[in-house]
Amino acid sequence: FEKTYLQYQGIPLPRAIYSDDFKFVEEFKFRDDDVLAVTYPKSGTVWMQYILPLVLNDGDMRAVQTTTNWRRAPWLEVKRTAPIVDQLTPPRVLVTHFPYNLMPPSLHTSKTKVIYVMRDPKDVLVSSFYYHQMANFLEDPGTFDEFMKKFLEGRVQYGKWTNHVKGWRHTELGDRIMYITYEEMVQDLPASVRRISDFLCCNVSDDVIHNIAEQSSFMSMKSKDMSNVSHAPKEYLDSTKSTFLRKGIVGDWKNHFSSEQETHFTSVIDKELEEGGPTSMDGR
Ligand code: PPS
Repeated sequence: FEKTYLQYQGIPLPRAIYSDDFKFVEEFKFRDDDVLAVTYPKSGTVWMQYILPLVLNDGDMRAVQTTTNWRRAPWLEVKRTAPIVDQLTPPRVLVTHFPYNLMPPSLHTSKTKVIYVMRDPKDVLVSSFYYHQMANFLEDPGTFDEFMKKFLEGRVQYGKWTNHVKGWRHTELGDRIMYITYEEMVQDLPASVRRISDFLCCNVSDDVIHNIAEQSSFMSMKSKDMSNVSHAPKEYLDSTKSTFLRKGIVGDWKNHFSSEQETHFTSVIDKELEEGGPTSMDGR
């Protein structure tokens, strides 16, 4: 299986998923009522693909019960699923792992609302380490220490975590962007669903909010075929090596980092976050 990466605008992307052609992204026409969830990989993408259609449809379960995550909320940058976007019933939900500077011009001219989900990079690293073991289209992660080095240097899909966060932290989107953390969602899911619903101006009752939160809990999503990513083609994801909905907790990094690794990781991340713009291998 193809495990090599292509480079697009300074970020590595797995060739098995992406072609060199990203013109369709540049030309993508966002609509005013679109909702875009933005994540660095392993930060809560599939969770948002589940929650957003529920919030936008007043808790109606049909979409999440009958369609896979990529059919109900496709990735902006995956050409294979681009035709699905045109078939979505508005309001459309899209997700992206792309950095801010690769957003098409139409994001800026439309009124599309954007939700940025951020997760503790230490837990992102752990989640990603296991994901690399099961994803046949990604490079073998090597040892945890080796993978940490790759992650910090941005030699992983979508490049450096710090660049992603920094790029999306200061945008010209004003009140069209909302920031939420994975940790906040784990801590108080009903309050998080309420925040999302208010941001999207959806008039959802407390009962519906609580029902959405219940349905989108880790255990509930894990038990459902259409939300646990078990529909992904076997040649892409080998579920004998790990599971997509793996642990769903905050702080699993404590079971994986030595204290030296934690000190090193935190100092690199903190230093890069303090520095102004994105820093990457090609200096963008
Ligand atoms: S991907 O490959 O980028 O689309 O992955 P992504 O969906 O962003 O992240 C996967 C991690 O999110 C966890 N997850 C959840 N946690 C808590 N509650 C719910 N409902 C939930 N749904 C997904 C998933 O378990 C992965 O994290 P880890 O730490 O590996 O368990």
